[in-house]
Amino acid sequence: MQVSLIVLAAGKGTRMNSELPKVLHPLGGVPVLHHALSAGRSLQPSRIVVVTGHGAEAVAEAARSFDETIETVVQDPQLGTAHAVAQAAPLLSDTGGEALVLYGDTPFVTAETLQLMLEARANHAVVVLGFEPRDPGRYGRLVTQGDQLLRIVEYKDASDAERAIRLCNSGVVAAGMATLFRLVAKVGNANAAGEYYLTDIVELARAEGLSVGFVTCPEAETLGINTRAQLADAEARFQTARRAEALENGVTLTDPATTWFALDTVIGRDATIGPSVIFGPGVTVESGARIAGFCHLEGCHISRGATVGPFARLRPGAELAEDVHVGNFVEIKNAILDEGVKVGHLTYLGDAHVGAHTNIGAGTVTCNYDGVMKHRTTIGRNAFIGSDTMLVAPVTLGDHAMTASGSVITQDVPAEALAIARARQDNKPGLATRIMARLRAVKAARPK
Ligand code: UD1
Ligand code: CA
Repeated sequence: MQVSLIVLAAGKGTRMNSELPKVLHPLGGVPVLHHALSAGRSLQPSRIVVVTGHGAEAVAEAARSFDETIETVVQDPQLGTAHAVAQAAPLLSDTGGEALVLYGDTPFVTAETLQLMLEARANHAVVVLGFEPRDPGRYGRLVTQGDQLLRIVEYKDASDAERAIRLCNSGVVAAGMATLFRLVAKVGNANAAGEYYLTDIVELARAEGLSVGFVTCPEAETLGINTRAQLADAEARFQTARRAEALENGVTLTDPATTWFALDTVIGRDATIGPSVIFGPGVTVESGARIAGFCHLEGCHISRGATVGPFARLRPGAELAEDVHVGNFVEIKNAILDEGVKVGHLTYLGDAHVGAHTNIGAGTVTCNYDGVMKHRTTIGRNAFIGSDTMLVAPVTLGDHAMTASGSVITQDVPAEALAIARARQDNKPGLATRIMARLRAVKAARPK
């Protein structure tokens, strides 16, 4: 079955009280928008169209950063949810197949629920996702009869009897593409808000003699982000769910309440994560790896048997092969560390490749930036980099090469060579005690 997604993300999000469009606020380390896209993408849609409006440029960019094949269309002005869906018609009306309408500000809808909606399409021309919140508040209400959805009434337009209905509209809709666009084109704006309501397609479909059904899901899946308080609550819920999932999957979390996950964090079985570890986006940790406390990881891969931290920072492009050891106060960015590399203390490796079983001494720095451009450092296998070596890139060190501690390496080092690049030591006999005696005499002569 061919499915396309229409993701509504044009709204202003006034109640966020923010310059940033609401769907771009971070949740689980990524824009709120990415969550709905992630659930939708697991249906393997043939096309995804995001309807943008407020902050259109930035929202489009965030959508493409999730998946560069995503198409966007600008809705300006924003005249309501039906009007928003209609903006996608020029892009999608020839596509056919199934259409699924999602909200960009509703992050927790699951792939399973969306799948149930597509299955329900076998019996109904239009399927709406409903839920029964503890507090129905100002949600639109679903007026049903048996398995039929008769209409959706917006809170503003609802009678007291309708407001007493507990079954509410999530906003998620599934329909055949042609049907959806035909119905949406018929929607008017004669209502309390003067908006084109997507919800009106229910009655319009029934007027055509079509069957309209509904599927329900837990309230937790339909939580929308409208305020900063809701965003904070959503973050807490997201983290709670991810911690439980990691434990369930056989990951040890020393102090789960302080482990922070991103939407796409992947951690293998029997990995151990110490306290206060923060996963930014794009991290994969293989089985059996150990991350000690207080590490900050982003865009990196940690292989089986590797150990990291405490207090390590792995930035995008850090690739740790099997049995690599990265110790405390080490920062790694855009660098590949082959099997068994050890980099124990106080080091920065950026734009580098380090060959297998090489040992990087404490205080080593790849000087990768000349103020204008970045340059690469390449180190062979079984090399030994002495403590406090400055590797001024671009520079290459061969297999089994060594550097003397405190060296500033500006030229390539051949395989098996020892590079010494520092002033030669000069011992002055007795000078230490003579200097100390002189300093004590100066101090004693000072007025009290
Ligand atoms: C909508 C539903 C309501 C439902 C509720 C669930 C309608 C008419 N009402 O109300 O039944 O209970 O969601 O949260 O559909 N958007 C656009 N362009 C627009 C207007 C909205 O892209 O012109 C987007 C928003 O960015 C948002 C989504 O559509 O992602 C929902 O819009 P919103 O204004 O929040 O709808 P509600 O009034 O909450
Ligand atoms: Ca809303």
